[in-house]
Amino acid sequence: MRHLITLDDLSNFEIEQIFRLADQMRTELATWSGFCKGKLLATLFYEPSTRTRLSFESAIGRLDGRALGFADPDAASVAKGETIADTARMVTNYSDLIVVRHSWAGAAHVMARYSNIPVINGGDGTHRHPTQALTDLYTILQRKARIEGLTVGICGDLRYGRAAHSLALGVARFGGKLIHISPDGFQMPDWITARLKQLYGQEPSETNQLRDVIGELDVIYVNRLQEERLPPEISPEDARGSYLVDVAIMDEAKPDAIIMHPLPRVNELAYELDDDERAAYFQQSANAVPIRMALVASLLGLEQLVLTQPPPRQIVSDSRPCENPNCVTNHERYLDPETEIVTASTSISSCAYCGALRA
Ligand code: CP
Repeated sequence: MRHLITLDDLSNFEIEQIFRLADQMRTELATWSGFCKGKLLATLFYEPSTRTRLSFESAIGRLDGRALGFADPDAASVAKGETIADTARMVTNYSDLIVVRHSWAGAAHVMARYSNIPVINGGDGTHRHPTQALTDLYTILQRKARIEGLTVGICGDLRYGRAAHSLALGVARFGGKLIHISPDGFQMPDWITARLKQLYGQEPSETNQLRDVIGELDVIYVNRLQEERLPPEISPEDARGSYLVDVAIMDEAKPDAIIMHPLPRVNELAYELDDDERAAYFQQSANAVPIRMALVASLLGLEQLVLTQPPPRQIVSDSRPCENPNCVTNHERYLDPETEIVTASTSISSCAYCGALRA
């Protein structure tokens, strides 16, 4: 049984296999309908979603499986205080695969630990959004035919944006060059930059002005300000409306650059760009369905070509509490803190749940 909590759970080969399967499912849908007949996908959404939940439900439906779950935690027993662990134990009996979205970093990891069926992280707090990154990488490949050697600018709220975190690590893994563009105070967190440097040898340049680098970029990946995740001491007023990708700035971009956005957009990506042939964000959201079809079939063990063995993880118990207030271990008190040690050129010690660096 395999879970997808972060992209680290997949090898590059497995990711490429998922992309090949998604290609087939997208172009030969009739061949694949019936592939998940009789299978049940539980979508447990403790946070709002349009694309992730509906594309997963569409994916299982197009393969003739069915979805069940909740889109509002107030309509589930979590409103009575049920823990993630107990919810996992229950839903294990009711379905074959779980997709979970939660506001706490590491919540999907907890769900996986207490589940006897595969768990997919549909976004956990300020941590990761691996299925968004798969969709993003797949879209880049469709548009540019490669990732290696491309310059990818990730723009916006990089501190609290989980899609940005997963994308940066994914682009680096496949040999793309990163540039980080963010308002002051919203820079990429050190637990991501440490991994970029030590695992992939990348030290992305940083700027708070998209105009300074726009002409270098092959991919312009825009993120909204994650207002719902800001800690109380940070005022959204400081950054709201501080960056905008519009026709004027795209006049300075490469003619074949592509514009991406995980969506929803708020006020950082102008509607006037929707007809620009460089806009890839609606294609990106459409690709969510074949990518999630391929992922669901793979994690259910129905497609034997992929997901052969999980990469090893070294996890040690650690009595010190995690310093990240958004970490699930600071909310679900039955959990013991744990440290994951990743060894590359040097070792990186980070919280096994939320990725925050540990000394
Ligand atoms: N991109 C994304 O995760 O969108 P939703 O929040 O609508 O699922």
